[in-house]
Amino acid sequence: MKKFKRHLVTSALPYANGPIHIGHLAGVYVPSDIYTRYLRMRGADVISICGSDEHGVPITLKARKEGITPQEVVDRYHELNKKAFNDFGISFDIYSRTSNKIHYETASQFFRKLYEQGEFIEKSTNQYYDEEAGCFLADRYITGICPYCGNENAYGDQCEKCGTSLSPTDLKNPRSTISGSAPVMRETLHWYLPLDKYEQWIRKWILEEHTEWKTNVYGQCKSWLDQGLQPRAVSRDLDWGVPVPVEGADGKVLYVWFDAPIGYISATKELTPDWEKYWKDPESRMIHFIGKDNIVFHCIIFPAMLKAEGSYILPDNVPANEFLNLENEKISTSRNWAVWLHEYLVDFPGKQDSLRYALCASAPETKDNDFTWKEYQARNNNELVAILGNFINRTLVLTNNYYKGEVPSPADLNEYDRSTIDSIAACKSGVESNIEAFRFRQALAEAMNLARLGNKYLADTEPWKVIKTDPDRVRTIMYISLQITANLAIILEPFLPFSMDTLRGWLNITPLHWDDAGTAKLLKPGHKVSSGELMFSKVEDEEIERQIKKLHATRKANEEAVPVALPQKEDVSFEDFSRMDIRTATIIEAEKVVKTTKLVKLKVDTGLDIRTIVSGIAEHFIVEELPGRHISVIMNLAPRKIKGIESKGMVLLAEDAEGKMTFMVPEEPIKNGSPVK
Ligand code: 2FM
Ligand code: ZN
Repeated sequence: MKKFKRHLVTSALPYANGPIHIGHLAGVYVPSDIYTRYLRMRGADVISICGSDEHGVPITLKARKEGITPQEVVDRYHELNKKAFNDFGISFDIYSRTSNKIHYETASQFFRKLYEQGEFIEKSTNQYYDEEAGCFLADRYITGICPYCGNENAYGDQCEKCGTSLSPTDLKNPRSTISGSAPVMRETLHWYLPLDKYEQWIRKWILEEHTEWKTNVYGQCKSWLDQGLQPRAVSRDLDWGVPVPVEGADGKVLYVWFDAPIGYISATKELTPDWEKYWKDPESRMIHFIGKDNIVFHCIIFPAMLKAEGSYILPDNVPANEFLNLENEKISTSRNWAVWLHEYLVDFPGKQDSLRYALCASAPETKDNDFTWKEYQARNNNELVAILGNFINRTLVLTNNYYKGEVPSPADLNEYDRSTIDSIAACKSGVESNIEAFRFRQALAEAMNLARLGNKYLADTEPWKVIKTDPDRVRTIMYISLQITANLAIILEPFLPFSMDTLRGWLNITPLHWDDAGTAKLLKPGHKVSSGELMFSKVEDEEIERQIKKLHATRKANEEAVPVALPQKEDVSFEDFSRMDIRTATIIEAEKVVKTTKLVKLKVDTGLDIRTIVSGIAEHFIVEELPGRHISVIMNLAPRKIKGIESKGMVLLAEDAEGKMTFMVPEEPIKNGSPVK
């Protein structure tokens, strides 16, 4: 790897319209903090940047719903989230916000520079306008029927049901979310970044020069690029945001995804007058920690902006994670299906490291993953308490008992001692190489192996038995166990900063350098250590049951909020029903449709033919497991083009109020093509 002079670590700026939950932590902030702490321990020049993303339509919608101003919304969540991150030990060097003056200035200057360089296309188009409210309807201010899946509440920028990105004019029967009225078309001027102009360059930069990026990131970039890039509007008709800083742009603000990543720059400016060396020196390395829904913005759009501006470096890596689910369901802010960080900190005081540990150990690094309270409890009780805490405690208590807390000098080493010492070095380098490759789960597993090794060493050598017969031997055993403990204090620091800080206190050592680890020479004979206490305490069943109950209450409230059964639709005649040609069929091939999160292209054997049907089911089934499934299809639904693919017919599914889906299948095997009556 190229040697860099300094590192700029950014973590996605969370929207200040809700609290931080475990999905945010596992996807972005725990990994970025581990990485930053590791670099700091290596003595690197590193800064970690984050802050609140305070613009965008979801914030103004929330303000409108609550009858308060957008500024009041962002003030509330900025403070809440900043404090929660800090209390959780996420060691940002700055947690800024995009409503700051410095951000307005930085984002305006950035826009103006591109504007003056002639980088934008200025274009008037017809956009939806709400005559009652007297404003244009950007993004989520407009809803309507999704042309792809029929969802009646699709947004102007995306259908949350089938995951397709939309533009407002794609919606059928559009309505304003402000007044509920049908909008009219009105001409409006906007600025577009011609991404198509950068396509060849981005292709080469990512697909040829960054083949080391994580496969989920690389794959998503490739599929965007393979679809071809289009000019993208970077302004909106809204009254909340950074005003477009050119003449004739009254009532227009920068698109939130234009200003938010510039927030990383403004925050660095706020942090240090030396900000330019982090952003403009090619010997600086920028890493963006984000969730998978932010990939296109950080890998394609922001780099194109930086490239167009001309004086900035580009990200060297973007280690995006997938999503974390909670108890087998998608985390949802609106449905309150989440573990909120600020609540966890109250419910589990002093247990920050337990959550950091559980989230890192099951982080969604390569695929979506699930958090369950039972697993959290097991990780804490069976790993932190039983393995790590137990080893540290035994070592310190025995040292205290045998040597009044003084590190003994070792006698002669035997083969087992030597191989144990060798394993310390191997563990350290395993942790290191995995952190550097952004494999934090594996890095943590390797670090914990050192504690396992320590426990095994004590169990095999049994100093409590040998002390009576061979005190010299015990000096060696305790010396080595203490060295393992001191090594743990280093290699676990990025993962468990609170506990390792306590451990350093017990070991009576100051913060150590990463490179000190890997040897059996960290604590000198005669050095005084304290007897320690219990480092981790058990999470009791009652605490877990309380959390699970809380989730059950949420589920119940959600169920009550949604009618259990939808009202019956209008009657149809038997003739109308008989016109529908429904038959049994079998899926023979299935593949996800690129650039969508929910669509799957199915090849289906209908008994009559083999045909393609596009269905919005990717999030409900494992796509690879679909071939072979028996289904029912409506054969004579008029063919439709979905994402450029001709879909002939429709797969029949049942869907409950929570969005859970299942195929309508024949109870017994029956030949493909059998009519459903
Ligand atoms: O997805 C989000 O939560 C966005 N607020 C992330 C913005 S990251 C950066 F560009 F600021
Ligand atoms: Zn849809």
